[in-house]
Amino acid sequence: MKIGIITGANSGLGYASTQKLLKEGYYIYMACRSEEKTLEAIKSFDPQLRDQVEYVHCDLSSFDSIRECATYVLNKEKQLNVLMLNAGLMATPPSETKEGYEMQIGVNVLGHALLADLLVPLIKTTPDARVISLSSVASNSGRPLQKQMLKLTKEYRPWQSYSNSKLGDVYYAKALAQYFREQDIDALSIAAHPGGTASQLQINTRKMGGVGISGPFWVYVMKFFGMTIHQGALSQLMGVLSSEVKNGDYIGPKGSGSAFKGNPKVIENYSVSQSELDDFRTLLKTELGLQHF
Ligand SMILES: NC(=O)c1ccc[n+]([C@@H]2O[C@H](COP(=O)([O-])OP(=O)(O)OC[C@H]3O[C@@H](n4cnc5c(N)ncnc54)[C@H](OP(=O)(O)O)[C@@H]3O)[C@@H](O)[C@H]2O)c1
Repeated sequence: MKIGIITGANSGLGYASTQKLLKEGYYIYMACRSEEKTLEAIKSFDPQLRDQVEYVHCDLSSFDSIRECATYVLNKEKQLNVLMLNAGLMATPPSETKEGYEMQIGVNVLGHALLADLLVPLIKTTPDARVISLSSVASNSGRPLQKQMLKLTKEYRPWQSYSNSKLGDVYYAKALAQYFREQDIDALSIAAHPGGTASQLQINTRKMGGVGISGPFWVYVMKFFGMTIHQGALSQLMGVLSSEVKNGDYIGPKGSGSAFKGNPKVIENYSVSQSELDDFRTLLKTELGLQHF
């Protein structure tokens, strides 16, 4: 049986991905921060699928929690076919992770990078393993991460930080792909963006407040024009299930880095300069003490 871990699996795109992979016969660890919400999500699955799924606590805003999650899976499994780095927060009010990083950068990029790093030993022993990183069209207005952008500052702008974090997710996927290549690891690191999908993401942004009228605006845009979670999840699922995708690919609706909806395809002509990737790798490696990056 193939084994997967999906972060933020209790809601939205992570939930839809979990459901699909259970149907495909995977055993899925739902790595989530709320036990209550995750058990509710598990209850909603077809009863025949429920013994293929398990909750594991993972709060990506705490390195201790991430380490505990990884240790739990490392102690139980000898393979890891899929690691879907899906959880995310968007345009949060000024806030910090337990280790003092700006919340969006900390959860969307750094927490995931640490989790993946701890799990690489399992990925190494699994032929054709897949690591999927969730980006967004917002990455188009993102700036490459630099050390001073990792922490909360007085100049903090919620939407800009979200865009920066989602560009960071593409860079992360590309850099991990390079690491897999260098180390001759039989695994694919892939970035995917869903397009526009009505989920809790926009609702949580509005609930948290701090972005004025743009909070409710995006709830209504997605409600009326966005995709369902099952349509939106097709890009990240293509990263897992397709035999056509290659290490370092970036997948999005219509094969575009800016499409709002449509069937997923590999995005052509998306490139990151080698010097930017090198800087990104050095930054994350040093900041987090990564061993496999
Ligand atoms: N929806 C879109 O249109 C869209 C577009 C582009 C990219 N994306 C990306 O897609 C991914 C999934 O988003 P979604 O739309 O499915 O949103 P969602 O329904 O809000 O799901 C987000 C998930 O992330 C979890 N999460 C948030 N903070 C966490 C933390 N500190 N530790 C662990 N889990 C945490 C949430 O947990 P709780 O339920 O406990 O809050 C939830 O399970 C995100 O990375 C997002 O940036 C979405």
